[in-house]
Amino acid sequence: MTRITGLIGYPVDHSLSPTIHQYWMEKHSIASAYKLFTTAPARLRQTMLHMRKKDVLGVNVTVPHKETVMQYLDGVDDLARRIGAVNTVMEKDGKLYGTNTDAYGFIANLRDRLGGELPDLSNVVLFGAGGAARAAIVALKDAGATRITIQNRTDEKAAALAREFDVDSSPWDIRGEQLVSATLVVNTTILGMKNQPQLSVSLQHLSASAVVADIVYNPLETAFLKAARTRGNPTVDGLGMLLYQAQGAFAIWHDVEPAVDAALRAHVIAAMHARGDA
Ligand code: ATR
Repeated sequence: MTRITGLIGYPVDHSLSPTIHQYWMEKHSIASAYKLFTTAPARLRQTMLHMRKKDVLGVNVTVPHKETVMQYLDGVDDLARRIGAVNTVMEKDGKLYGTNTDAYGFIANLRDRLGGELPDLSNVVLFGAGGAARAAIVALKDAGATRITIQNRTDEKAAALAREFDVDSSPWDIRGEQLVSATLVVNTTILGMKNQPQLSVSLQHLSASAVVADIVYNPLETAFLKAARTRGNPTVDGLGMLLYQAQGAFAIWHDVEPAVDAALRAHVIAAMHARGDA
C-alpha cells in the first residue's frame, strides 16, 4: 500500500495543502496522496490512533489542533516545543514525532520575496499574539532579530508572550506610533483575511525603507499591504509562508526538497481563483 500524507484540522475543506503537495508529488513521480482528515476537537485522539494504524508517512496539523496534538505524539522536537505548536508529524519505526515548519516558512518567505536577503531585523514590530505570532517570533529570534515589539488587541496576551520570549510589548491603542523606528512590520493576526475586518493602523510614521509583511494570503494583497506598497514600502504577502512550510514538511516525509518557484505560486493562485479567492 502507498503510504499517504495529509492534513488534520477543523475545518480543512478549503485547504490549499493538497494542491501544493500533489503538485510536488507529480513533479517528483511520487505515487502517493495527500488527504484531508476533518477532525473535530473531540475526535482528535481517535484520529491520532487511526494514524498509527493507517500506513501514514506523516501528517500536517492545523487549527485548532497544533497545540493539543502534542499529547498524542511519542516525541516533539525543540523547535516545536519553543513555538508551543506542532504543524508536521512524521512516522518512524511505528512512532509519531512532531516538529514545526511554520517558523522556517515565515523566514524563507521573507528571504525569497526580498530577493534572497533578509530585511533589517534590528527593530521588528509584530501585530498579534496567537500561534502564528509564536512561530514568527521564534523564526525572527533565530534569524538574529535584536528588538521585537509585540502589539495585540488583548494587551495582556502581548505582555505574556513578550515575557515568555524575552521581547517587548506595547499597547495596541498606540500601534501607529510604535512604527517610527521599525525596520520590519509583520501582521500575524487574522485581520485583513477574507470575511474579517481590516487591520487598521496608521503608517504615517513608518520609514520608507521598512519592510511590511502579512501572513494573510487570502486575499494575496491585504488592505494593510496595499497601503504600505502605495506609499513605497517593500511588501511581502503570506502565500510564500504557506508554500515554504509545506516544502519543509514534504522534505521531511519524502526525502527530497521540492522547489518553491513562480510556477508553483502561479498554480496555487490559479487554484485560489478557481474557487473565487485571491
Ligand atoms: P493563530 O493561531 O492563527 O495565530 P489565534 O491564536 O486565534 O490564531 O490568534 C488570532 C490573532 O488575531 C490574535 O492575536 C487575536 O487577538 P486577541 O489575542 O486579542 O484575540 C487577533 N485578532 C483576531 N480578531 C481580531 C480583531 N477583530 N481585532 C484585532 N485582533 C484580532
